[in-house]
Amino acid sequence: MYKQLIDKLEKQHALSKDEYLTLIKNRDKCREYISERASFVRNKVYSNKVFIRGLIEISNYCKNDCYYCGIRRSNANVSRYRLSEDEIISCADEGYKLGFRTFVLQGGEDSHFTDEVLCRVISEIKSRHPDCAVTLSLGERSYESYKALREAGADRYLLRHETADCEHYAKLHPKEMDFFTRIRCIEDLKSLGYQAGVGFMVGSPYQTLENLADEMLFLIQTKPQMVGIGPFISHSDTPFKDKESGTAELTTFMLSLIRLTLPDVLLPATTALGTIDPMGREKGIMAGANVLMPNLSPVAVRKKYELYDNKICTGEEAAQCIECLKNRVKTTGCEITIDRGDYKYEI
Ligand code: 5AD
Ligand code: FES
Repeated sequence: MYKQLIDKLEKQHALSKDEYLTLIKNRDKCREYISERASFVRNKVYSNKVFIRGLIEISNYCKNDCYYCGIRRSNANVSRYRLSEDEIISCADEGYKLGFRTFVLQGGEDSHFTDEVLCRVISEIKSRHPDCAVTLSLGERSYESYKALREAGADRYLLRHETADCEHYAKLHPKEMDFFTRIRCIEDLKSLGYQAGVGFMVGSPYQTLENLADEMLFLIQTKPQMVGIGPFISHSDTPFKDKESGTAELTTFMLSLIRLTLPDVLLPATTALGTIDPMGREKGIMAGANVLMPNLSPVAVRKKYELYDNKICTGEEAAQCIECLKNRVKTTGCEITIDRGDYKYEI
């Protein structure tokens, strides 16, 4: 019966909420089959190629206070940093030599990074490396700001919605943060022609399996080009320090559901997945993921960008991570490729 549901999903790219829920509840009975089908679909669309994105963590200052996040403004134990424009550009230059053709500028919501500063950095990276894509992951901004950054050359934007349920959203965030603002931002990004990424944590506090089924309906409705998911991992300096972390097994199952629902989607096996399970990223690729986002930030600041406890790869040079990842990816039957790794279709 589960096999039939998975076959139906592979054919139709959608199930009802109840059907998704049935699969999620009974995932132990169909884990292998769904991984096999999701890998098949990934290979059909992107062959066995895994795209890499160089992640540059430009600032750990953040005006927000999300209950789950280690760099929330109330965490006085964080040693705050922001990279200079030259440092960001040097990271990209180094990444280019290592074979990266996408750079992701990620940071907390830091008012230092005005449109003016960001536009300068984006256009400099794009003029030095015209064959590269620039992805931003800098939180909520105004339509005008997203527009200016897009005009400066940004190609993609990651803004996880965190949960598709506005009541659940309110349990993860302080009251000044609003689910509908988040959705407005995602709509703005899409309308400006960004390749847009959404996403959520698996096993976040108060999340139910029904919420996860709703996530799938949200993705069908939103049609993002990228989806970032990873297990929630508790951080010891946050209000959620005693909450249970998510698991690799549920995260990889959700990755397969996403691949079968959105066959063309760019889907990372995240660092959080590699943190909760030493083989997490390999398992993610075998479950249908096709993107890895190794860290290109200067090693000196790596440990300071701790969204969750025990984050991996905070001591390694980017070159070391690349070597390590090449070997890891090989064990999955896939291979890393030097490519911008755009979404398959015009958007
Ligand atoms: N565990 C896992 N993921 C987290 N994020 C933030 N804090 C945590 C945590 N404790 C994720 C959020 C955010 C992304 C940048 O990192 O989903 O959107
Ligand atoms: Fe960073 Fe393995 S990916 S050390």
